[in-house]
Amino acid sequence: MRTKIVAGNWKMNKNLEETETLLTELSAKLPDTDAEVIVAPTFVNLAAAKESLDSSIIQVAAQNMHYAENGAYTGEISADMLLNIEVDIVILGHSERRSLFGESDGLLNKKVKAALGKGMKVIFCFGEELEDRKSDNHFSVVEHQLKNGLFDLDAKAWGSIILAYEPVWAIGTGETASPEQAQEMHAFIRKTISEAYNNSIADAVSILYGGSVKPSNAEEIFSKPDVDGGLIGGASLKGDDFVSIIKAI
Ligand code: G3P
Repeated sequence: MRTKIVAGNWKMNKNLEETETLLTELSAKLPDTDAEVIVAPTFVNLAAAKESLDSSIIQVAAQNMHYAENGAYTGEISADMLLNIEVDIVILGHSERRSLFGESDGLLNKKVKAALGKGMKVIFCFGEELEDRKSDNHFSVVEHQLKNGLFDLDAKAWGSIILAYEPVWAIGTGETASPEQAQEMHAFIRKTISEAYNNSIADAVSILYGGSVKPSNAEEIFSKPDVDGGLIGGASLKGDDFVSIIKAI
């Protein structure tokens, strides 16, 4: 049985007070669920988020990290710094990191290995651009991102990997992939992993969908057999919306 997960990627939003207000609201309104619930505030509010949630089942993730242990990397954050505040989950490979900050598959592979090497869990993001889909290259783009980012990992490492398929054209646009499109790609991802590794690893890995998930569409998307939850952007910044999406899983 795969783990169901609803994760909120807050991106560059919420100051300290707003973070604490939203987390208090989420803690109070959190429904009974067998899904894992994760929030990813900005770096500067991670320690406060951990403190706010110390008696909650809600987990805290970072939105990025560097692969080096420490050193002359101005503005960067290491795995040890995250673990020092007990944050042991990190989102890597988000399309905004890839497109706005030039993060390549090779760099992301180094980051993934650094996080896994420290015993962290990784939410690995990938997905095609609109022109890839329009030219019917979306499957090969996704396959390359998976192969170049993850496929040199040993079988054991996959126990700490959560996948997040985020078609770039659906992120922040309100243009959600249809449940059928999501299912088709998630099934392709699972098949690709099965061929590269084995059925056991492919069947066990949670594959989240991200890209304009809202309370109005979450239930139908989450109902698909190879969709194991969502990585939520804008809707995770509103307590009632995020709670509605959790209820939908
Ligand atoms: O990482 C999740 C994010 O990219 C999706 O954003 O606003 O389309 O839910 P949004």
